[in-house]
Amino acid sequence: MARCVNTIAASRGSATAPQTTAKFERYDGVMKAMHWATLLLVAAAYAVIWSNSAAVTKEQSAVLVQVHRSLGVTVFVLTIAWHGGRGPSCLTFRPTLPAIQIMAARATQYLLYALLLVQPILGMLHSIALGARIDLFFVIELPAIIGRDQVLSKIAISAHEIVANLMLFVVAVHAAAALFHHLVRRDGVMNAMLPGARF
Ligand code: HEM
Ligand code: HEM
Repeated sequence: MARCVNTIAASRGSATAPQTTAKFERYDGVMKAMHWATLLLVAAAYAVIWSNSAAVTKEQSAVLVQVHRSLGVTVFVLTIAWHGGRGPSCLTFRPTLPAIQIMAARATQYLLYALLLVQPILGMLHSIALGARIDLFFVIELPAIIGRDQVLSKIAISAHEIVANLMLFVVAVHAAAALFHHLVRRDGVMNAMLPGARF
């Protein structure tokens, strides 16, 4: 992973603002690509399923649900590929951040990964137990690895709805924290994930 030196400017207009110099690691290209691709895929999964309520015909709705399933499975595969073999990403070398913030960032990081895996699993469980096809972008059909089970299907979709809301909340907190670092602390945390960011 590339390393670089970051000199953080004092907050605007404050004579007493601390001048800090910190060394940061920057996420490598693969991590950045995976991160922003995940954001796009997750956003698309929400957008597609929410637009389902505007579907006029059953066929339209079936297409939207199938696209939603495909996007969700892609998120699952990407998340495994994202960290498979790469090990946990060092949440960067940040001597200026208080331990509590590093712990909060770590916790959010693990929670996000857990949600990115659990949510598609619940969606797949629901669909397969319902006896529905998972037709990946209308090209490959996933095998039904379990039989029909109405109770399991209902439990899975209820959990899927709860996790969908939880994910929205965690992502909102995560994005807000990133923006806080970028706009208020101006400490380079956001730059570590921005494409082409230089220090
Ligand atoms: C990151 C991945 C995913 C996210 C963020 C996500 C999100 C959502 C959301 C927000 C809903 C609407 C819930 C509601 O009505 O309140 C939903 C419904 C649903 N999801 Fe997912 N989902 C994901 C992955 C999957 C996967 C992988 C599958 C199946 C292979 C799946 C199958 C479904 C199905 C069948 C519904 C119900 C559609 C309907 O009949 O209205 N989802 N999902
Ligand atoms: C506007 C939206 C977003 C912004 C501004 C953003 C920004 C960032 C930044 C700056 C980091 C680096 C944090 C650090 O090193 O401490 C990061 C890491 C991460 N983000 Fe996001 N993010 C956004 C959306 C998302 C979404 C939608 C997901 C997934 C649902 C996500 C998942 C992650 C994960 C898992 C990491 C940890 C990467 C690692 O170190 O292993 N982010 N994000």
